[in-house]
Amino acid sequence: MSKLLFAPMATLSHEAMRRIIEHYSPSACGEYYTEMIQATTFIGGGKFEQFYVRPGPCPERVVWQLTCGKAEPMAEAAKIISGYGGIGIDINMGCCAPEIVRQGAGIAWMLKERAETQAMLALVRKAVPENMRLSVKMRLGDEDYKLDELCTFTDMLVSEGVSQIVLHPRTRKAKFKRPPHWSDAEALFEYVAKKYGSSICLCINGDIADFQSLCSVQKAVPLAQGFMIGRAAVQKPWLFGDIAARLAEKACDAGQIDSLEVVSLFIENLMECQPEEFWLSRAQRFFSYFCKNFSFANYLFTQVNNAKDLPSMKHEFESYFEKMPGERFLKHSL
Ligand SMILES: Cc1cc2nc3c(=O)[nH]c(=O)nc-3n(C[C@H](O)[C@H](O)[C@H](O)COP(=O)(O)O)c2cc1C
Repeated sequence: MSKLLFAPMATLSHEAMRRIIEHYSPSACGEYYTEMIQATTFIGGGKFEQFYVRPGPCPERVVWQLTCGKAEPMAEAAKIISGYGGIGIDINMGCCAPEIVRQGAGIAWMLKERAETQAMLALVRKAVPENMRLSVKMRLGDEDYKLDELCTFTDMLVSEGVSQIVLHPRTRKAKFKRPPHWSDAEALFEYVAKKYGSSICLCINGDIADFQSLCSVQKAVPLAQGFMIGRAAVQKPWLFGDIAARLAEKACDAGQIDSLEVVSLFIENLMECQPEEFWLSRAQRFFSYFCKNFSFANYLFTQVNNAKDLPSMKHEFESYFEKMPGERFLKHSL
């Protein structure tokens, strides 16, 4: 059966979020990518770094994602972090945020001299124990990317010991509104599968919001062995469970989800797993997606976003459900 992966998302893919997903989708997500960990800050012993490397609630399914524009700190961080367990180390080659690209990190690794990227991977692979996987998450490249160059770039990844690739088939500048280029993803996957057989695990990512959209992506990219989901799994932490049930041809849970329970649990987890300095910003980020489940999403999120602390945020949800009692209990996706 195809595996399901939780996407690395800065400020969202942390232990508190994983706990919520495991609570509502027990054992359904095969791999939890962490939010990107800045290698230089990590090895410099930044004040908050310990919170980025919390492995719970299922350390055996964690994939640590690293970001950095330089090889040496990346390898050093990879060596330390692989000692914390998990499936392996992932190199972020997809992030297009200008401040990341300026550092030579994220998608810059796809665009710079190939020899430099190759040398970085060789150093990281050497630093990571053999029993831990090295993976890469990437986009298609710049606006003028060429499929044959993407194929040879992937050959280079494989030659340096990368054994899982997650492709988000958008270009550097493409925003979420433009559809992913599924046909080029399939062309790349065909090339890799033909050349390397099943030794390279090929995973696809982008715009999977429910079982139907997963089926459409599966139809467009039949060689994908794994499906990575980001924003939709934050909005609906039960999504992995629902999709896994459908993939296994079992019925989805017919019960309802108590939204107030989700809010309370998330807040409790956040207080246990994150430093106080992060509570408000992380809660705001989660609720910006979670509020999309309700009719007056913008109104509710504005109220929550303006709340001064976590109890006041919870209070805003309670007030909303007093006014809209029919919205408190949510259904699983069909
Ligand atoms: C808020 C946010 C933060 C993200 N941070 C990262 C990151 O740290 N590393 C990374 O490789 N991708 C990052 N991404 C991209 C996601 O991993 C994913 O590729 C993208 O959201 C598309 O998947 P989706 O349509 O399922 O959300 C981020 C996306 C969002 C929305």
